Amino acid sequence: MTSLDKNQIKNKNHYEDLYSDFSIKSILWKLNNLESYLDDAIATDTSWNALYQKDLRNRLKGKKVLEMGCGDCTNAAIMSALGAEVYANDIADASGLIINKLNEQYNFRFPIKFIKGDFLKNDLKAKQFDFVIGKAFLHHLTIPIEKKFLQETAKLLKKDGEARFFEPAVNNKFLDFIRWYIPVPGRPSKFRKNSFKEWKLKDPHPDRSFSSNHWELVGREFFKQVEIITIGSLERFSRIIKKKENKWKFRRWAFKSEKKLPKTINRSFSRSQLIIYKNPI
Ligand SMILES: C[S@@+](CC[C@H](N)C(=O)[O-])C[C@H]1O[C@@H](n2cnc3c(N)ncnc32)[C@H](O)[C@@H]1O
Repeated sequence: MTSLDKNQIKNKNHYEDLYSDFSIKSILWKLNNLESYLDDAIATDTSWNALYQKDLRNRLKGKKVLEMGCGDCTNAAIMSALGAEVYANDIADASGLIINKLNEQYNFRFPIKFIKGDFLKNDLKAKQFDFVIGKAFLHHLTIPIEKKFLQETAKLLKKDGEARFFEPAVNNKFLDFIRWYIPVPGRPSKFRKNSFKEWKLKDPHPDRSFSSNHWELVGREFFKQVEIITIGSLERFSRIIKKKENKWKFRRWAFKSEKKLPKTINRSFSRSQLIIYKNPI
C-alpha cells in the first residue's frame, strides 16, 4: 500500500484549496465554442500549442484517454467534447467535484470518469489506453514518484498507444539562474529574501530537474520511442510586450517562426516542452 509523501500532501492541500468552489462557467463556454476556442488557444497559448502538436485534436475521437493531474479539468472536458472516452485523476478530490458538475451540465458522448485518490493505487486493467496525457503535471512529482507514474503509464498504454506530457523546460543553467531574480505574478524575486522564502514554503513544485535530458533518460527506461519538442525560445519574449493585442500577435508569429530555428537553439532557450513516449517496453 502506498501512502502519500510530503510533496504529494503539499500538492493535495494546495490544489484542494485552489479548486474549491470552482465555477465551470468558463469551461462550458469553451465547450460550446469548441472549434473557435481551440483554434485560438492552439495558436496563442503555450500549453495548448504544445499539447496539441501533431494534430492531437483530430486524433482523439473514439479513443480511450487517461489524463493524470487533471486539475480544473478544462483539458479533460475538451478531450471529451472532441469525442474521446476520458478517465481523469487528480490527487485533489476537488477535481472530481468539477467533473461531476461538467457531466451534469454538458452532454458528453461518454461522461468523464474520475479516478479518485492516489493514482498509484489504481486497479485499472493494463494495455487499455490509446493516450495517457499530463498537462503541467510531471514536474509536480518528486523524481522517485515520477518514475512510478511513468512505469504505470507504460503498463496502461496499448502497444501502439502514446503518452504526452506538457512540462516546463529548463535546459540553460544561466537562464535558470537569472529567472529566480525576475519576479513573476505570484512569485517574488529572490532578491527579496523573506518574501521568497515565504513563497517557497507554499510552492507545490519540488526541487528537481526540468531538463529535456532528464525526461529523455527516464523515458527510455519504460519506452522504446522518446521524442521531445521544445517550445518558447521566441515566445518567451512576449512577456515584455504590454499591449494584449500585440502580445497575441507576437505569440502567433513566434510559435510558427521558432520552428525554423536550429534544434540546439530551441532546446537551450525554450521555456516549455512536449514529451512524447511511444512503444512501451
Ligand atoms: C499545475 S496543475 C495542472 C492542472 C491541469 N492539468 C492544467 O493544465 O491546468 C498540477 C496538477 O497536478 C496535480 N497533482 C500533483 N501531484 C499529483 C499526484 N501525485 N497525483 C495526481 N495529481 C497530482 C495537482 O493537484 C494539480 O491539479
